[in-house]
Amino acid sequence: MTTQIKSIEEYKEHYQRSIENPEKYWEEQARHFYWYEPFERVCEWNFTEPSVKWFLGGKTNITVNCIDRHLATKANQKAIIWEANMPDEEVVSLTYQELHDEVCKCANGLKEIGVQKGDRVVFYMPMVPELAIGVLACARIGAVHSVVFAGFSAQALADRVDDAQANVIICSDFNNRGMKCIPVKQVVDDAMDISCNSVKNVIVYRNTGEEINWSDDTDIDWADLMEKQEPICEPEIMDSEDLLFILYTSGSTGKPKGVVHTVGGYMVYTCYSFKNVFQYKEGDVYWCTADIGWITGHSYIVYGPLLAGATTMMYEGVPTCPDAGRFWAICEKHRVNQFYTAPTAIRALMAQGNEWPGKYDLSSLKVLGSVGEPINEEAWHWYDQYIGKGKAPIVDTWWQTETGGIMLSPLPGITDTKPTYASYPLPGIQPVLVDNEGNLKEGNNVEGLLCIKHPWPSMIRTTYGDHERCKSVYFSLFKNMYFTGDGARRDDQGRIRVIGRVDDVINVSGHRMGTAEVENAINEHPNVIESAVVGYPHDIKGQGIYAFVITQDKELDLEFKDEICAVVRKEIGPIAKPDKIQFTSGLPKTRSGKIMRRILRKIACNEMDQLGDISTLLNPDIVKELIQNRNK
Ligand code: WTA
Repeated sequence: MTTQIKSIEEYKEHYQRSIENPEKYWEEQARHFYWYEPFERVCEWNFTEPSVKWFLGGKTNITVNCIDRHLATKANQKAIIWEANMPDEEVVSLTYQELHDEVCKCANGLKEIGVQKGDRVVFYMPMVPELAIGVLACARIGAVHSVVFAGFSAQALADRVDDAQANVIICSDFNNRGMKCIPVKQVVDDAMDISCNSVKNVIVYRNTGEEINWSDDTDIDWADLMEKQEPICEPEIMDSEDLLFILYTSGSTGKPKGVVHTVGGYMVYTCYSFKNVFQYKEGDVYWCTADIGWITGHSYIVYGPLLAGATTMMYEGVPTCPDAGRFWAICEKHRVNQFYTAPTAIRALMAQGNEWPGKYDLSSLKVLGSVGEPINEEAWHWYDQYIGKGKAPIVDTWWQTETGGIMLSPLPGITDTKPTYASYPLPGIQPVLVDNEGNLKEGNNVEGLLCIKHPWPSMIRTTYGDHERCKSVYFSLFKNMYFTGDGARRDDQGRIRVIGRVDDVINVSGHRMGTAEVENAINEHPNVIESAVVGYPHDIKGQGIYAFVITQDKELDLEFKDEICAVVRKEIGPIAKPDKIQFTSGLPKTRSGKIMRRILRKIACNEMDQLGDISTLLNPDIVKELIQNRNK
C-alpha cells in the first residue's frame, strides 16, 4: 500500500508534485487503502481555529487495512515476532491470520463488557503482544485507545485516566524488565484509589501469574474474557476523522496534554512514511526498540509496519540484559533487516565497549534508524561503523507525538546522510525556519524556529478536551503555521539539523518532559518552597535533569535529596527523577517575578562565561551563590 520511492530522481519528482498539488498527491496515496466508502474531499484546513480534516467523508477501519487486507496473500506470514525478556524464553510469533483471530477475540471481549465506539480505553502494559492486540482490538470496534507508558506512577496514570474519562483500563500483573519484576496491577489499584472514577473495569493480562490483589467488582481476567470469544468481529465502520487514539505528552506548561489522532490521515501517513523511510521489502524483519507507550511504538511498531504488511518485532526487555550484547544478539537471531532505536540506547551500549557488537553477525542489517532526540556525532559514527559496518545507511528521523509520523529523514540508499542531520523532508512535508517574529529565514546556512506551513495527513487534530490549548501551543505563535517547539538549522545543501527544544521541554533519554511538571512534583515536598528545573548535557541520557530547590526548616543533606527524588517518582515516575539537586536560598528573578531560566541553564551547563547581563535581575546577588554551590 502506498508507493515506495526508489531513486533520488523519484524523490525529487514526488516532492515537487506533493508541494505543487498536495491534495492530488495524497489522494493517490490514499487510494491504495480499503475504504468502505470513498472520501469526497482530500483535505480541508485552516490553521487559525485550527481545523484540519483529511479524506473527508471516507469510511474505513484501520484494522481492516492492517490485517484483513493482507489475509489473501499473507495469512501465514509473521505479523508480529515477540522476543521475551530473557534470551532462553520462548519466542512468540503471530501470523497475520493469528493476529486477526486474536484481535477479533479481544474486540468481542471488549464489546461483551460494554465498550462501544468512542469509549476510551487506557492501556498500562509492558511490551507483550497482548498490548498490540488490545490496541488493535480497540481500533476494530472504534474505541479510542490511550496507552500510558508503564513506567509512569499511579498519580500520573490517574491524571491521564481522568483526563480521558476512560471506562476501562487494560493492564498486566507484572512487568519483566531485565532482572526486575515490576508490579503493574498494583499501580493500577493505587491509581483507582486516587481517582479514576470513570473506570468500570480493569482487564488484567497475567504476564507472570504471580499473586496480585483482586477486586471482583471491577477486575476481569484477560484469559477468561478471551477464551469464550469468537475469532471473527465485524469491524466498526469509522469516519476518516473519527478518533483513533489519544496519547499524552508533555508540554512547556501544566499537565501533559492528550494529543488526538484520527483514523484516515494517520493510516495513510504512517504506512507511507514506514515504507519509504525504512525501504521495507517483502520478507524483511523490521525491529523498532521503542515502547508502545510512546508515539514511536504506535506508529512504527504497530500501525505503520502492519499497514505495510511487514513483519514487526517487539522486545519485552532492556538493552543490557543479560548483557550489553542483547540488542545485537536479537538482530542476529531474527536476522533483523531494519533496526530503529534511540540515541540514548546507542550511547549506553557504546559506553559498554566495541567488543559487544563484534560478537554477533549483524550482516542482515540494511537500514539503521534513530529517533527521539538529536544524535551526537560520536554516537552516529559508532552506530555507522560498529553496527552498520559502513553499509547500512542511518536514517535520523525527526518527528513528534503531534506529527504522528516521520517528517524529516534521509531515505536510505536514496538521499545522502550526514551525521546529526535529519536532513530532508518527506514528500508532502513543508518545513520552514522562522525568526522570533515569524519572518521566514530563507536560503541556506540559516538557523531558526522550525515550523510546518502546510498540513500533512497524520498531524495532531486537537488536544483532548481542550481545543484552546492546541491552538495556543501550536498555532498561535506564528500565523498560518504549525510551530514544533524545536530550533533547527539548514546547511548549505538544504539539509535540516534539529538542534533541540526552544521551550521549557527537556528530552531525557529520549523521554519528553516538561520542566514545569517536574517542578510541580518537587514542590509537593512539604519542605520545598520553590524549585526550578532545567536540562543540562548528559553523556548517556542526552539531557539530565538539574533542579534548583529553595527549602525551609530542613537539614540540607542527602536524605532530603532522596526524599525529593521520591516525591518525583510518586508524582510522575522514575524517568523524571532529578540527576542533580542544588539547594539554594533564592532563584534569579526578573523585576516582574519571573524566574530567569536562561541563567539557571547556563549554570547547570557550566557555561558561566555566558551568563549575559544580570544587572536587570531583582536579586543579582543570588547568581554568585548559585555559581559557588553549583552541583558538579
Ligand atoms: C525531539 C518522538 C532531534 C524533538 C518521535 C521533538 C528529535 C521531540 C529527533 C518529540 C531527531 C525527536 N533529532 N530531535 N531525530 N526526534 N526529537 O513527542 O525535540 O516524544 O520535538 O516524539 O523529540 O518527542 P516525542
